[in-house]
Amino acid sequence: MSTPKRYLVTSALPYANGLKHIGHLAGAYIPADIYVRYLRAQKREVVFVCGSDEHGTAIPIQAKKEGSTPQEIIDKYHQALKEDFDALSVSFDIYHRTSEPLHHETAAAFFAQLQEKGDLITQESEQYYDEASKTFLADRYIKGTCPHCKSDRAYGDQCETCGRTLSPDELINPLSTLSGATPEKKKTTHWYLPLNQHEDFLREWILGTHAKDWRPTVVGQCKSWIEGGLQPRAVTRDLDWGVKLPASIQGGAGKVLYVWFDAPIGYISATKQWALDHGKDWTPFWQDKETKLVHFIGKDNIVFHCIIFPVMLKLHGYILPEQVPANEFLNLEGDKMSTSRNWKLDMRDYITDFVKAENGGGQCVDMLRYYLTQIAPETKDSEFTWKGFQDAVNSELVAIFGNFVNRTWVLMHKLCNGKVPHLHPTLFEENEQSLSREIQAAPGRISELIEQYKFRDALFEVMDLARKGNQYMQKKEPWMLAKKIETDPTAQKQIDNCLHLCLQLTANLAILINPFLPNTALTLLHMMKVVDRMLAWENAGSLTLLNAGYPLRAPQLLFRKIEDAEVAQQIEKLQKEIMSSTTTPTTPANNTTPTPEKPIIQFEDFAKLDLRSGIIRKAEKVEKADKLLKLEVELQEENRIIVSGIAAHYQPSEIIGKQVTVVCNLAPRKMRGIESNGMILMATDKSGKLHFVQPENPIEPGSQIS
Ligand code: 2FM
Ligand code: ZN
Repeated sequence: MSTPKRYLVTSALPYANGLKHIGHLAGAYIPADIYVRYLRAQKREVVFVCGSDEHGTAIPIQAKKEGSTPQEIIDKYHQALKEDFDALSVSFDIYHRTSEPLHHETAAAFFAQLQEKGDLITQESEQYYDEASKTFLADRYIKGTCPHCKSDRAYGDQCETCGRTLSPDELINPLSTLSGATPEKKKTTHWYLPLNQHEDFLREWILGTHAKDWRPTVVGQCKSWIEGGLQPRAVTRDLDWGVKLPASIQGGAGKVLYVWFDAPIGYISATKQWALDHGKDWTPFWQDKETKLVHFIGKDNIVFHCIIFPVMLKLHGYILPEQVPANEFLNLEGDKMSTSRNWKLDMRDYITDFVKAENGGGQCVDMLRYYLTQIAPETKDSEFTWKGFQDAVNSELVAIFGNFVNRTWVLMHKLCNGKVPHLHPTLFEENEQSLSREIQAAPGRISELIEQYKFRDALFEVMDLARKGNQYMQKKEPWMLAKKIETDPTAQKQIDNCLHLCLQLTANLAILINPFLPNTALTLLHMMKVVDRMLAWENAGSLTLLNAGYPLRAPQLLFRKIEDAEVAQQIEKLQKEIMSSTTTPTTPANNTTPTPEKPIIQFEDFAKLDLRSGIIRKAEKVEKADKLLKLEVELQEENRIIVSGIAAHYQPSEIIGKQVTVVCNLAPRKMRGIESNGMILMATDKSGKLHFVQPENPIEPGSQIS
């Protein structure tokens, strides 16, 4: 395929309702940044847009949770997200926001255009209405019992317990989360995008044109949507938070655009704002077929970017995305990352603990970027572990890349007067010819992989080149040649050849690593005393990047080791956070404020608990988690493993034989790799100390408590 005239690269707009974790970073932001930095090094015209998604019910819900207003929430998190991406060297050309008037105008006009052309249909339907709050209820505002798992942590869009997608009509005993009242059904009219009318186009475009060049998960998800029968999708909502329908639309008062209609238009308004800021024309980016549009997203966003938004774009007369490299999910230490369970590593946590804690911090940014690319969930879910992070940094970045560069620099200063030595072609050996050929061949392979969105493999190739440099240096042993200078007239020349080649290789590594680890590339430029023009991709593969006789600076440490204590500390922190979200918070000492009472529940709710008396038969500390004990508790005819957050209050030996009360039917949960099957009830006294809840007299293990 010929080179596109220009590129427009987008990363999914994150909701401005909270901080984002490293799973998000690995999914939609780091890969996009690598791609864009590569394109810039190729001197292609590219604009990289992103911004905060500030609409949808997620925002008012978060405001309620924080006792704040939606506006305060989006202002706070927009700023935080912008700062976090910046701190991790994600180089958007613009980080916009969907609350900007430019976005509201753009999205409303987009809707109006489709409406005027007759591309939308209206339908009347019955929806839940809360009489007490005088409002139609968005799916998230309706709570009830899940028809599948019977959990009462189910909402009108999804069950929080089993994760199934739901519609409000499926909920058993629906209740309004605003007033607590049972909502009534009331008629309302909405605008719909009739996806069913575009089935032929989608089939041809996705299952025909892109079946081979899109990732299998992307094509697979689209296929199942198409085969499942496309239905008209509502694109408006009865809400007061969002982009209002244009005044010209009859019956549009009190309605806003559905967040998934307005959010992707955010890519367009961000492009417009970027163009305004830079005195450029935005239209070719969305209208010229020679623009290549690429959306980087996580797999939960596939349908919106591959089916709904493309239909909107086609109807509006804009170009379609050529690629949608969706990533799978990143797990953390053996479990799914989850904000509600507090099992996550926020970008901000890493920034605070590593980046801000260090001078400059650039090397820590690159260390995370390295590991996240190495484990990128490109084809299947993958996993972040602190041990894996430590290994990647210590055994690869420090031991291979950093070591090669450092040895080259130290020896060049020691054996070649701190200057690029001259080459002596007649003494150039076969292993040097072979390494030179590797240097010349690597950029082509890496380019090809990047252009196929295989960033993991591309990064592996860069590291492999550094590995080959190390192996060559190890074989050549210039430090041994230095001992022969007096006796061997070619020794100095061989040293010169070796270091000349290793320096050219380092310059190449700077170019090749730049899209992945931009801070490392900058440090290398500084050490080589060259300007960033050298990082142009066309220079990669050259063996004459540094001129003989050119003096170079002293070496700088590219990467530092990650210590065992840091790994242990991070794991412990994670553990503490999940405990604080799953155990009853302990009352601080001398706190006389009474714990607020929880809302009234029905007897049926209480009856769901399977409470039994048990006896602790074994207890041991959980490794590297100072709050947890692993208990074996005897119940009726079984011994159960239960992980309990009581280690700060009891020694294992003092609780053997204790009678305890167990919640037996709590869903199993993994903690520090151990599956816990139940929970021990504890009472907290005023000083914050925990006490077992026990029957008055010893009782058979397994006896029911009600
Ligand atoms: O899933 C999300 O976080 C959405 N806010 C992504 C929106 S992407 C685009 F459409 F703006
Ligand atoms: Zn469920």
